Amino acid sequence: MRVVEDVGASFAGLAAAALRSRDPARPFRLGCSGGSSGVDCFRRLAAEPGVPWTAIECYFADERCVGPDSPDSNAVAIAAALGRVADGLAGFHPMSCEEGPDAYGALLAAAGGFDLLQLGLGPDGHTASLFPGSDGRDAPPGTLVIANADPTGLNRFPRLSLTFEAIARAALVVVAVTGADKAEALSQIDAGEDLPGAHIRGGQVVWLVDHEAAGGAASRVGS
Ligand code: 6PG
Repeated sequence: MRVVEDVGASFAGLAAAALRSRDPARPFRLGCSGGSSGVDCFRRLAAEPGVPWTAIECYFADERCVGPDSPDSNAVAIAAALGRVADGLAGFHPMSCEEGPDAYGALLAAAGGFDLLQLGLGPDGHTASLFPGSDGRDAPPGTLVIANADPTGLNRFPRLSLTFEAIARAALVVVAVTGADKAEALSQIDAGEDLPGAHIRGGQVVWLVDHEAAGGAASRVGS
């Protein structure tokens, strides 16, 4: 776990470094989450100089099943955070609740694992749209995307979400955690409790945590 002053700026730095060492023979597969942390990460990356936007394909970790122009849509929020650079992307692939989880799973299977996947952590310990009590661990092996909902209703809207298996296929996962409302979940994960965020795996997993979210959490959470 890296406790940092500015999670968005640190994300942009990590992403820029990953892009510098990308395979130039194919597009760089970037996975985006919604929420305030995702918006901040991609707003900051959009302001970074020298990012090879034409080499980047954007995909999503999850989506809320709302209208395609709704401000609650993760794709709408991330497109707005990227601003003008979104026009130059090699690809922009929102999840579609109408098309369903299998269509997006097939798209991801054909594309290959993410080069960089950004995730967030909810106050209840959810990540992507994998919620406590409904974290999709019962999905059949090989399933990359599921339809899901928060059984408590606290997190609104039906969702599509990556599975832990799809997350684990990412070369680099960056979990951006901001705000005091995450401190309890983070310290529970740190203490080994079975929250969805505790099951994030990847080639490399980096937790970027601000001081408010870090609270009492110490070091069991990986790098
Ligand atoms: C979503 C997300 C979700 C988010 C966390 C953190 O669509 O809500 O993808 O998993 O990343 O809830 O959200 P905040 O950064 O707003 O706290």
